Amino acid sequence: MAEEQTEREDGGGVATAKDSLTVTDNRTGETYDVEISDGTVKAMDFRQIKVDEDDFGLMTYDPAFTNTASCRSSVCYIDGDAGILEYRGYPIEELCERSTYLEVAYLLIYGELPTQAQLDEWIFEITHHTFVHENIKKFVEGFRYDAHPMGMLLATVGALSTFYPDAKNIDDRLERHMAAVRLIAKVPTLAAFAYRHNLGLPYVYPDNDLSYPGNFLSMMFKMTEVKYEPDPRLTRALDVLWILHADHEQNCSTNAVRGVGSSQVDPYSAAAAGVAALYGPLHGGANEAVLRMLERIESVDNVPAFLDGVKNREERLMGFGHRVYKNYDPRARIIKQHVDEVFEVTGKNPKLDIATELEKHALEDDYFVERKLYPNVDFYSGLIYEALNLPPDMFTVMFAIPRTSGWIAQWLEMVTDEETKIARPRQIYTGARELSYVDIGAREQRTEKPVAETNLIDPAKH
Ligand code: CMC
Repeated sequence: MAEEQTEREDGGGVATAKDSLTVTDNRTGETYDVEISDGTVKAMDFRQIKVDEDDFGLMTYDPAFTNTASCRSSVCYIDGDAGILEYRGYPIEELCERSTYLEVAYLLIYGELPTQAQLDEWIFEITHHTFVHENIKKFVEGFRYDAHPMGMLLATVGALSTFYPDAKNIDDRLERHMAAVRLIAKVPTLAAFAYRHNLGLPYVYPDNDLSYPGNFLSMMFKMTEVKYEPDPRLTRALDVLWILHADHEQNCSTNAVRGVGSSQVDPYSAAAAGVAALYGPLHGGANEAVLRMLERIESVDNVPAFLDGVKNREERLMGFGHRVYKNYDPRARIIKQHVDEVFEVTGKNPKLDIATELEKHALEDDYFVERKLYPNVDFYSGLIYEALNLPPDMFTVMFAIPRTSGWIAQWLEMVTDEETKIARPRQIYTGARELSYVDIGAREQRTEKPVAETNLIDPAKH
């Protein structure tokens, strides 16, 4: 069927009447047609809307990117209302049931499931790049005994760029490939070194005979035994947790990796930005916060009082709510299934009863129902990590290990995307203009306001 066509004002394209948005600027009475494609309008199409020739043009304002697509991506699909998560089109449930973390990492990076030969080669490559330069050990030794392992991981991932300076040749396919392999291979080693440093224990070198999660458990927990033998139920649980955490489209840390990577910096530096973003309690730090919250609640009897505190906004129910999922997070459902399997090996964690009670009460409470707040991936993952004997400080590190494959997949997609430009948002300027410089002796403190505005302490008063 032929559709009526309208020329765009800027002459940059033709929008069919059906696939366009007609906007009237009530300041001028002018009407504009803006093309709609893939359910989006381009923010730059609004720049043509001006009150006069000197006007910069209309901008869009979206401080947390809540309604702005920052890229095209074929890595990960989420339907937040339906609670669907797919990697490269494969449902997360099937991947957790039938795949392994390393196969999923291949899928995310290469876009398709590997053949047996491709998978064997991939596993061989990853397994043979798990060692880190001995200087990294010295670097880790420089941290205080109680340094947070995420801080150490952030520093060591960034430091990898100094050991592989050729990685800055991001147009070179081989360099990109090597960076992908090295990051996935070495992040568990760096994580385990950070953990052992906190405990004052000697570092354990990778064991090439073990699987990816088995080797990680060995690097973490091996003591005097000649060969560490991981429990297959624990390695499988860990593998599933890592599949679940591998990617989650344009979340805060992935956005950081893409944003930093858009300056064409090397991938290790870009990945370090991802680790930094993941550290925050509203993102990867939430699983640590959940455990601390369960510790504070102490017993099932205190659950109603705690939830009252949440509703009065004195507390936040960590591990609940999500920017995208307005339904049960499918990852939380899968983790819940594995909690019991892990407890079979490790013995039950009493905090599970508090978590179960919290979930039950919250899902029946209007406050949470109305706001569509359901458990997210972090609500139960911390319980498994604790059962594995990991201290809460390590929980976010356990998230960073698998998310590394997602960051790389998204970084590779970004650097090879012709639409990529350096990320550089606009702002709405709210400050003063055109002031004249005042000599220091002639200055008076104007008001309390400038210091109060920044929430800093006034140095003159302290
Ligand atoms: N506890 C209590 N109230 C909440 C919570 C919560 N966990 N999450 C959201 N709300 C309320 C919020 O106060 C607001 O209520 P009102 O409209 O009355 O002011 C409403 O629900 C909407 O919340 P929002 O803050 O606009 O939602 P958001 O999309 O900006 O925030 C979130 C998403 C994940 C940051 C938030 O839900 C949160 O802080 N959750 C706890 C931290 C957490 O578990 N984070 C892990 C996220 S999953 C891991 C990952 O993928 O990174």
